[in-house]
Amino acid sequence: MKRGIGVFDSGVGGLTVFKALRKELPHEKLIYFGDTARVPYGTKTKESVTRFSLEIAKFLEKRGIKLLVVACNTASSLALNVLKRNLDIPVVGVIRPAVRAAAAATQTGTIGVIGTEATVASGAYQKALAAIASCDRIIARPCPLFVPLVEEGWWEGAVAKAVAHEYLAPLKRSKMDALILGCTHYPMLAPLLRSVLGKKIRLIDSGSETARDVRAALEADGRLKRSGRGSETFFVTDGAERVKRLARRFLGRRTSRVSVVRLP
Ligand code: DGL
Repeated sequence: MKRGIGVFDSGVGGLTVFKALRKELPHEKLIYFGDTARVPYGTKTKESVTRFSLEIAKFLEKRGIKLLVVACNTASSLALNVLKRNLDIPVVGVIRPAVRAAAAATQTGTIGVIGTEATVASGAYQKALAAIASCDRIIARPCPLFVPLVEEGWWEGAVAKAVAHEYLAPLKRSKMDALILGCTHYPMLAPLLRSVLGKKIRLIDSGSETARDVRAALEADGRLKRSGRGSETFFVTDGAERVKRLARRFLGRRTSRVSVVRLP
């Protein structure tokens, strides 16, 4: 069996990470899993997110993946260690790559993080940032309304702008010069966030940073595919048609077949 890379998220947001992976790894077989029947994870407990994540990881493992990418920031915050302990393949989350990029970008030492309620409450980003020498102040804020705004396609305009102003006001008043977009959906709002925060603040997209880490991990153990056409498979737990519609927006192109599966 040809071994692919599994990528999972609570829903469609992880397609931002998938897009970055496709760009970085054009020859790989990518298998995306979106848990659309149970999304959002951002308001759920650690116990539930961990259970869901393990079920998905086992499903993907049975399909013969060589590496698992936890595209969901909430799952990366709450379940990464359990996943690593339970799988025999490398597991890459989105937190470490983003934190490293933020640490390299900051001059003032004040770094912002925005994400779901569960991601911010878990303290996972804050803990990882606190361990970095160039970071001396962390400002973390949940921005839950950004997710439905993105899924509605409201990436700009008066409503999205008002919400962004409200959420980002305390960060704007600080000395923050790097902001981690700690949720799969937020990179879609990058132009809006840039217009609200100004050009001096570096926006860190965990998707593209993670894709670079995945490439490095595969290169390091000699498992990077360097030729041949890459392929894609999509699994979701509900609503294939809606996923296809949203995927077109997230990826900027059509997807191949989306299959609905039941877990566990
Ligand atoms: N994918 C989730 C994340 O990155 C956002 C959506 C949700 O709450 O499930 O945290």
